[in-house]
Amino acid sequence: MAHPIVLIPGDGIGPEVADATRRVLDATGVAIDWRVHDAGGDVVARYGDPLPKETLDAVSEAKVALKGPIATPIGHGFRSVNVGLRKALDLYANYRPVQSMHGLPGRYENVDLIVVRENTEGLYSGLEHVVVPGVVEGLRVVTERGSERIVRFAFETAKARGRKKVTAVHKANILKLSDGLFLEVARRVARDYPEIEFDEAIVDATAMRLVLDPSQFDVLVMENLFGDIISDLTAGLVGGLGLTPSANIGERAALFEAVHGTAPDIAGQNKANPTALIFAAVLMLRHLGEDEAADRVMTATAGLINSGEARTADLGGSHGTREFADAIIQTLA
Ligand code: NAI
Repeated sequence: MAHPIVLIPGDGIGPEVADATRRVLDATGVAIDWRVHDAGGDVVARYGDPLPKETLDAVSEAKVALKGPIATPIGHGFRSVNVGLRKALDLYANYRPVQSMHGLPGRYENVDLIVVRENTEGLYSGLEHVVVPGVVEGLRVVTERGSERIVRFAFETAKARGRKKVTAVHKANILKLSDGLFLEVARRVARDYPEIEFDEAIVDATAMRLVLDPSQFDVLVMENLFGDIISDLTAGLVGGLGLTPSANIGERAALFEAVHGTAPDIAGQNKANPTALIFAAVLMLRHLGEDEAADRVMTATAGLINSGEARTADLGGSHGTREFADAIIQTLA
């Protein structure tokens, strides 16, 4: 039976990279029932909301979505589409593998990390209010349940992928109650996985240690804001956001996307690199149990980039978005 997948092309370069990725996936022969739905800045005029209910319902039904980048209109009172999707579908785990690709301008050649970020709590709970004019409070929410499920997700990921170590990244020396709770739960969950090493690291020191020597780490797990920052830092270790995919996973649905934004400076010019969304699609294929197709797409795409045979302009090549996808499809044939 065909896998039902909601495709949200998104804004800016989104439709171009989404089209390239869809064509590459179709070339694998995996049967996919594509259901295209809209979200983002461009749909406000039609639906009055950047995250239409139809789109949310479609993802709930299909349980899997592939999403291009989205620009949430700022200053009109709209919630962020990305945060809205994560909260509405309870996509509590953000999963980002970060690996060096040889021959690309990464800082290191030996990076092989997984960053697991809690996606629904922390300072991104959306609980902000004006106390008196000129004073705003934002609440950082940490719960035992939220901490337990994200740390367990990190250990289960480590187990499934043959990883050796999980590091809980925190700031419990200052945030004694909130990160104190996260750390206490992490230590407790770690006892259920004696075969996997567990350690703890303070977030600011982690940032420095990652830049100095990323090989010290394996799987890192942390709350929302720390994860947002550390996962972009790790993307910078391997050549930037253009190559980095991410998965947002919950019990009821999973949503796969590139880490980069809508790149308005190059939108509509056939210049965007679709690799990050293609790698997100590789994560999606694995999630669907289509490992053989995932391996083929990964090998074909990485092979073309590493050999220099086909690269988009951001990586010093001359292929357009469409031509780069064509080259992958030819390699898959
Ligand atoms: P951006 O990632 O869109 O662009 C930063 C720079 O990287 C630009 O020079 C752009 O041309 C380049 N770039 C990004 N992706 C590329 C690709 N695939 N191929 C080649 N070059 C690429 O970040 P920016 O400018 O901060 O954000 C633009 C918009 O995107 C904002 O509205 C932001 O809110 C939104 N955004 C959406 C995200 C999502 O939907 N997950 C994530 C990040 C930003």
